[in-house]
Amino acid sequence: MNQHTNPDREARNILISNDRGGYTIPTEGLYPYQWNWDSAIAALGFAQFDIDRAWIEIETLFTGQWTDGMVPHILFHQQDDGYFPGPDVWGCDGPIPSSGIIQPPLAATMARKIWEQDADAGETRIRELFPKMLAWHRWIMKWRLDDHGAVCTTHPWEAGRDNAPDWDKAMARIDASDVGEYQRRDTSHVNSEDRPTKFDYDRYIKLVQIGRQAGWDQQALLTQNPFRVADPTMTFTTLRAARDLLAISEQLGLDAEGLGADIADLEVGASSLWNEDLGVFDSRDARTKEWSGSISNASYLCWYAGIESEKMLDRLKAVLASVPFPVPSYDTSMPNFDARRYWRGPTWAFMNMMIGFGLAEMGHEQRAEELRVKTKELISTYGFAEYFDPISGSPAGGNAFTWTAAVWLHWAGRD
Ligand code: DGY
Repeated sequence: MNQHTNPDREARNILISNDRGGYTIPTEGLYPYQWNWDSAIAALGFAQFDIDRAWIEIETLFTGQWTDGMVPHILFHQQDDGYFPGPDVWGCDGPIPSSGIIQPPLAATMARKIWEQDADAGETRIRELFPKMLAWHRWIMKWRLDDHGAVCTTHPWEAGRDNAPDWDKAMARIDASDVGEYQRRDTSHVNSEDRPTKFDYDRYIKLVQIGRQAGWDQQALLTQNPFRVADPTMTFTTLRAARDLLAISEQLGLDAEGLGADIADLEVGASSLWNEDLGVFDSRDARTKEWSGSISNASYLCWYAGIESEKMLDRLKAVLASVPFPVPSYDTSMPNFDARRYWRGPTWAFMNMMIGFGLAEMGHEQRAEELRVKTKELISTYGFAEYFDPISGSPAGGNAFTWTAAVWLHWAGRD
């Protein structure tokens, strides 16, 4: 079955039609605003045919940066009643109406890639962005580290892997009985079987209420927020971003004091996420010190962060050989594996791309290529879905999705 006869054109058209003028929505209906990590991936896609537009995407993201350096996970540029929770629920007062949490920091890494693609076109842009990206990095180092130097997520939406089994134990401890009435919008756009459950959603909203009550004061939230989990997505992407910021500063002669020490701390933090019993990089609750016991696709971002692991390589080989459309967001051998439900099993093309970047950079070109070819087959056969069933390949979640189109243009579709 190959319904997608001209995926290059389709991918460009998706980016163009999701462009709202300076920023790109992930997909019409379900996600009608600018999302932080989606935006960094969108920029990579634009760079394949409009490099100026690629820079604008990242620049627009940083127009929402708070004075303390934080870059919100959603920027509500224009009110849209099709999404909940909107700016009125978050109650934030940044320069643009926004959420009060972050997302994994991909911007510095993708900006560096776009700059390397055309150094002349990018030099002024990256020089201007650099202090902003550095300020965001410093904010993360100040507010999100656990005792080991691993980076914590303070809301499941912050790690971007909303309903990953990684959070199950921490979520079960949250009392959401007083969350009140609210109306979800996501399940009016896509199949509810593909989305987080009501149990999870109540807790997502409860955590927003706790943040708002604290006025998004990070010092207060260090004690008041019941959810604080050190996670491989946040840790590996922060470490990678720090390495990219250091490389940019060295090449352009920019001041990046403290970055070397931050990288050393983050390397220790990243290693601390190795769960020897499970043989993977796992999440760890910063409150209870308990492991999550989760084999997720975030574990395979170790190479992206510049961390070698023979054991992860063996595991990857096994996954590549045993699952038709790797890498599942939750290992198929785990008892709660769910092939369609968001981050509890499905394959995400952009995670594959980041895993592939890391593999190739650390000398595992053959594995990176295998993963790329399988991702190419997945997208060219099943289209530009938000995510996919790793066994049947069938599309799930939203469609005409920005980051899947960007992954096609930058990586999967390039032979
Ligand atoms: C949602 O609303 O489902 C988003 O994933 C939040 O980032």
